[in-house]
Amino acid sequence: MPTIKTTPFTDQRPGTSGLRKPVQTFAQPHYLENFVQSILDALPQREGARLVLGGDGRYYNDVAIQTILKMAEANGLAEVLVTRDGILSTPAASHLIRKYQTDGGVILSASHNPGGPDKDFGIKFNTPNGGPAPEKITERIYEISRTIEQYHIAEREDIDLSQTGETHLGNLRVRILDPVGDYLELMESLFDLDRIAAYLARQNRPIAFDAMHAVTGPYARALFEERLGCPAGTVMNGDPLPNFGGGHPDPNLSHARALVDKLFADDGPFFGAASDGDGDRNMILGHKIFVSPSDSLAILAANAKLIPAYRDGLKGVARSMPTSAAVDRVARQLGIDCYETPTGWKFFGNLLDADRITLCGEESFGAGSNHVREKDGLWAVLFWLNLLAVREQSVADIVHQHWQTFGRNAYVRHDYEEVDSDGAHSLVEHLREQLPGLAGQTLNGLTVDYADDFAYTDPVDGGVSEHQGIRIGFDNGSRIVYRLSGTGTRGATLRVYLEAYTDNAEDYARPATELVAPLSALAVELARIAHFTGRQAPSVIT
Ligand code: G1P
Ligand code: ZN
Repeated sequence: MPTIKTTPFTDQRPGTSGLRKPVQTFAQPHYLENFVQSILDALPQREGARLVLGGDGRYYNDVAIQTILKMAEANGLAEVLVTRDGILSTPAASHLIRKYQTDGGVILSASHNPGGPDKDFGIKFNTPNGGPAPEKITERIYEISRTIEQYHIAEREDIDLSQTGETHLGNLRVRILDPVGDYLELMESLFDLDRIAAYLARQNRPIAFDAMHAVTGPYARALFEERLGCPAGTVMNGDPLPNFGGGHPDPNLSHARALVDKLFADDGPFFGAASDGDGDRNMILGHKIFVSPSDSLAILAANAKLIPAYRDGLKGVARSMPTSAAVDRVARQLGIDCYETPTGWKFFGNLLDADRITLCGEESFGAGSNHVREKDGLWAVLFWLNLLAVREQSVADIVHQHWQTFGRNAYVRHDYEEVDSDGAHSLVEHLREQLPGLAGQTLNGLTVDYADDFAYTDPVDGGVSEHQGIRIGFDNGSRIVYRLSGTGTRGATLRVYLEAYTDNAEDYARPATELVAPLSALAVELARIAHFTGRQAPSVIT
C-alpha cells in the first residue's frame, strides 16, 4: 500500500454539516488527504468497502475526487460509485447510498457558501442510511485526524470521468453513473408527475426555477423542461459553474434577487423556486408572495395526504429548534408527534430511520421526507407543484388559507456574518448569564414564558447534544432564538431568529418584518448586539 507520512492538523472537526474551510486550507499539502484517511479509518471495515462519491461541482471538486479515488484504491476499497464529471446533488447522493446499499458516501460541497479559488470547499461523510454522519462518528473522524501519522494513496494518472461506464483501478471497481437518472426515478415514484405536467400545460403563465449555476441545473432541466414539458429557459442559470457564476448559491430573498424580482413583476410567473449549491435547499415563491420556509414545512405537512407518496398520512414531523412552531400546530391538529431537534439535518436521521417521522424541515430553506436522509430542494418544489395541481389554487391562496386555519407564525432571521469570534462568544455568554432570571419578567410589554440554552436528548439512541442555541419564549407564542453558525468559515456568524405568532386576520396582509419588529428591537437590546459585534444592523435578512 503506497504510504505517505504526515502530521495532524488541529482544525479538522466537522461542523453543522461536514468539514468546511476556504479552498486554500484544503489545498495545503496533506490537508485533504489527512481528512479523507480519517474518514476511511473510521469506517467499520475499510477493506472491501463500497462508497458513493460526488459533489456540487464547485472549484476543487475535480481535484478532490481524483485524490479520493486514488486513496480508495490504496486503502483496499472494493468499489466507488462516482458520477459523470463528479456532479452529484446532496439528496441524489443520499439516494444512491441507499439504493446501492453502500457503506456510505463522501459528498464534496460547501452547500450555499460561495465557490472559487479564494472561496469555500467542504467534505462530508454520510453513513449507510444515506444521512450525514451523526456526532459520534464525526467526533471519531476528528479524533483520528488529531493523531494521524500516515495516509495511503495510489500513484497514477487522473481518470476520465466524462463518460458513464465502469473502470478498474487495481482491485477497485469505479462505476461512473449518470447523476440524474436514479434521482428522477425516485421523484417519479413519489409524485404524480403526469398530473403536474397536465396542470402546467393548462396554465397561461410560466413557472421559473433558478439553479443559481449550481448542481441542480442538470436535474432541473431534465425534470421541468423534459419530463414536465415546460419551455426551454424555465430553468435559469442552469449550467453548474465552479464559482457559481460569482454568486452566492443560497436561495433566499437576498441572494436569488433576479428570481424574486421576476416573481414580483406584474406579469411574473405564477410559481418560482430556487435551490442552493448542492441542491438540498429550496425557496418557494408564488406570484408576489414569498413562502417562509417554516410555513412551507407546515403547509406540506397539512396537505401531505394529497400527494401520492404520503397518501396514508404522516407518522410524525420534526423541525429544528429555531424553525417556527407553525408545523407544531399542524401536528397537533393531525394528532401526530412533533419533534424539536438541534440545527442540522443529522438530527433527523434517527427519527426517520425509526419511522417516528415522515416529514421534517428547517427554517434555513430545508425540507425533506423519509425518501432520503438529506433535505431535498427539488423534492420540495415538486411537492408544491403537485399540491398546486391538486388544489388548483394560487400559492398565495394556499398560504392565506393555512393562516386562517392555524394562525400565522411570522418569521424573520437576522444574520450578522463574519463578526469577531471572541465578541460573538462573549455575547452568548452574556445571554447565558441572564437566562436564570428571565422567566416571568415582562420586557418591552412581552412576558417571558421560558428562557434556556437548548439541549436535546435523541429519543432513539439517547445521545445528548447541549448548547444548541438560546431560546426565549413569550407567553403569546412568540420567540427569540440566538445561535452561532456551525457552517461559517470566517470569524463567527450570529443568527437571531424572530418569530411572532398572531391569529388576528388583519396581520395576514402585513409583512413579516413589521410583525417581528418589536421582537427584533428587544433581541438587539437583550444581547447587546451592537456592543459585542460592533454591528448596527444584520448583514443578511431572510
Ligand atoms: C446552516 C443552517 C442549518 C443547516 C445548515 C446546512 O447551519 O442554519 O439549518 O442545516 O446550514 O445547510 P448553521 O450555519 O446555522 O450552523
Ligand atoms: Zn446545501
